[in-house]
This record gives sequence, C-alpha cells and structure tokens, in this order.
Amino acid sequence: MTGDDLPLLQTEVPGPSSRAWVDRLARHECPAITARRVRRAAALGASDTDPVVWAEAVGANVRDADGNVFVDLCAGFGVASVGHRHPAVVRAGQEQLGRLPHAMGDAFPDLRRIELLERLCAVTGLDRVIFGSSGSDAVEAALKTARIATGRSRVLAFTGGYHGLASGPLAALGYHVKNFRDPFADMLGSHVDHAPYGGHWPALGGYAAVLVEPVQGRGGMRGPPEGWLAHLHAEARAAGTLVIHDEIYSGLGRTGRMFAAGDLKPDLLCLGKALGGGFPISACLGTTAAMDAWGASTGEAIHTQTFLGNPVGCAMALAVLDVIDRQHLVARAASEGAWFAEALGAVPGVTGITGSGLMLGVHMPDSLGVTRRMMARGYIVLPAGERAEALGLTPPLTTSRAQLEAAVLALTECM
Ligand SMILES: Cc1ncc(COP(=O)(O)O)c(C=O)c1O
Repeated sequence: MTGDDLPLLQTEVPGPSSRAWVDRLARHECPAITARRVRRAAALGASDTDPVVWAEAVGANVRDADGNVFVDLCAGFGVASVGHRHPAVVRAGQEQLGRLPHAMGDAFPDLRRIELLERLCAVTGLDRVIFGSSGSDAVEAALKTARIATGRSRVLAFTGGYHGLASGPLAALGYHVKNFRDPFADMLGSHVDHAPYGGHWPALGGYAAVLVEPVQGRGGMRGPPEGWLAHLHAEARAAGTLVIHDEIYSGLGRTGRMFAAGDLKPDLLCLGKALGGGFPISACLGTTAAMDAWGASTGEAIHTQTFLGNPVGCAMALAVLDVIDRQHLVARAASEGAWFAEALGAVPGVTGITGSGLMLGVHMPDSLGVTRRMMARGYIVLPAGERAEALGLTPPLTTSRAQLEAAVLALTECM
C-alpha cells in the first residue's frame, strides 16, 4: 500500500474479520456510539453494524482488518489533509515522543508549544492562542472568550452548523438531528439563537458572538452566497459583536484557500481536525483585543486543561504546516478540487455540487445507498447534510489524480 493505490478488495466489504471485531466493539462500547452506528447501518440497509475496521493507513489509502485496501475520500473526518501517516509528520511525532511526550500546559510549557503559538499567529494574522485537544474544546474556548470580552452572553449561530457535541458547542448546534441535542436541551441554556445559513439574521446588538462556519461541513459541504460573510462581519463590527469562524473542517487549505474565509479576519478562529495530522490537537486563535479581555492572571489559570498544547501534538502540527507549504497543498486543493467538482458534476444522476476545493457536497437522490455501494467498491465516503442529501467528499489534499478519476468512475457505476 503506497498511499496512491486504487482500491484492492480481497474479500467482500464488510469482510469476515471486520464482523468479528465489530461484535467485540459492540459488547463494550457505550451505546451512545454503537447505537448510532447501528441506526446508520439500518438506514444504509447493511447487514452488519459497521462496514470496516481500520488496521493501517497511508496517504489516501486505508487497509482494513481483512486486508482490503480502500481510498479514503473523507480523509478520516477531514483529519488527514496531508495524507494519513505523512512521513514528516510521523517523524516529528516520534522524535517528540522520544524526548518529551508531556509537559505542564499552562504551568510549565515546552519548546514546541511556544514554536506552534508563533507559527499559528504568523499563519492566521491573529495574536493569541488557546490550545485544546478537540474541535469542541476550541469552540468552547471561543464562546467563553466572547463572553468575557463583550460582557454579553447571547450567541447567534446558523442552521446546519455543527461545532461539536460538548455542552458549549452543542448549545450552538444548528444541525437538527434531534438525538444530538434533545436529551440535554434543559442543560444547554437558552442563550443561542439560530438564523438561516446564507440568509437573513436578526439585529446583532446584544449578541456576544456570531459563530459561523465559512463553509459548512457536516451541514452539507456548502458555503453561503457571495458577500454574505462580509456583510455579517460589517454588521457584527458595528454592533460590538465578535465574529467566530469555525474553520475546524474548512481550514488549513481544504477549500483551496488556507482559510475558507479568505481575507476576512475573524475576532476568533477555531482550528482542529487536520491541524495535528492525526494527533488530537486544536486551537482557538484571537485578536489581542478579544483575548486580552481575559485579563492578567491572579494566580490560577481560569481556562486550562491537563493536555493543553501537548508537545507531541504541537510537534506534529508544526510538521503539518510545513508539509502544507512544501507540497503546495492549498494550490493543489484548489486545482484538483476544481477538476474533481467538474467531473463529479457530469456524473449522470448528480443533481448539484456544493462546496469548494476538496470540500465537496455531491447531491443526489439516494446518497445513503450510493455511500454503501461506493464502500463496496473500495471508496470510503460519508453522507453530509441534515437529511444526508449529499455525499461529503473531503479526500486528503494529496490524493492522486488517478485516484480521483477512479472515484468518479466508481460513482458513475454506483448511481
Ligand atoms: C466545523 C466543525 N466544528 C467543530 C467540530 C467538532 O470537532 P470535534 O469532533 O473534534 O470535537 C467539527 C467536527 O466534525 C466540525 O466539523
């Protein structure tokens, strides 16, 4: 398996050992996770509770427990933007593991963390950073910062928005899959309003923040109409409301720009997923004005975590940023994405393409069925959108043209 391989299936998918592993998983995994998987399998009409168990991955390829080789057209939830197991990222992680796998977050930082702070600020044009371990952590930090900086508590979020499932971001969820939110509704407060994504929003006076994905991921891989985000920025600025860009999915080159919002600089920016090249690390970046509202420490850090800015994650993130530069992955996402979108749009039965770069929604009537048939041909794809109305395609930015061409052919056969 080289990373540039086309699918090579040894067994039918899901294969026999995948099934055995899934049984073991289902015995011990909390049904919060397994039950969702079962529901999804039921919706897909699959006979088992999960399609494949991953054993190894490199580049755009994944090998499962039965030896089947897949092309991962979702980059592991958008994490493997530089490809799975990129050698430079692995090397950086291994070197750091061999030297210092853990430091003491806010109390005793390590060198890599300082380097990553500087690097992220240089890349984003923002001034201050709060690290976290997940996307949820970054959104949580942004919401708390907006509260502190404005003295206000109301938040405006958007329909179709997905920001993570910890309590803070869950309160802002605009992705109306009921079972994410409903069991906890009375624990989430009533400080969040939702406006239609790409549509009209209420007067912003009184809001601490607007929380927005410049291109929505789970909500359907779609951006707002031209000019919408700039208009939102202007009104927010006039109202003293902070703008939080959630670029956890769309950031770091995925849309063919380093950040999907282009030159529009937010007050707060959330990054995660691809940042650590597979290591769980995230960041909330902000302007000095927003972040310094936290004030000087009077002893305890009032926002911190045990693993904040873990050294291995920081070392791997620095390597990811190097790879994005060195391999010109932003330009590659733009050019390959344009080719891919055009080719996908020409597949009979496809009703529309949304998104940009290598963050594409491929709309069609039976996307769940097509997801399953693509899987059986060796392509890992996820449904996207609130009613799973599209295939969400977010392959590694390094995926070869031959792999993309073969995926278009496979999709044509699956329709
Ligand atoms: C835009 C966006 N924000 C936040 C999150 C939450 O990240 P995590 O699952 O790492 O908490 C996600 C995850 O899919 C996301 O797509």
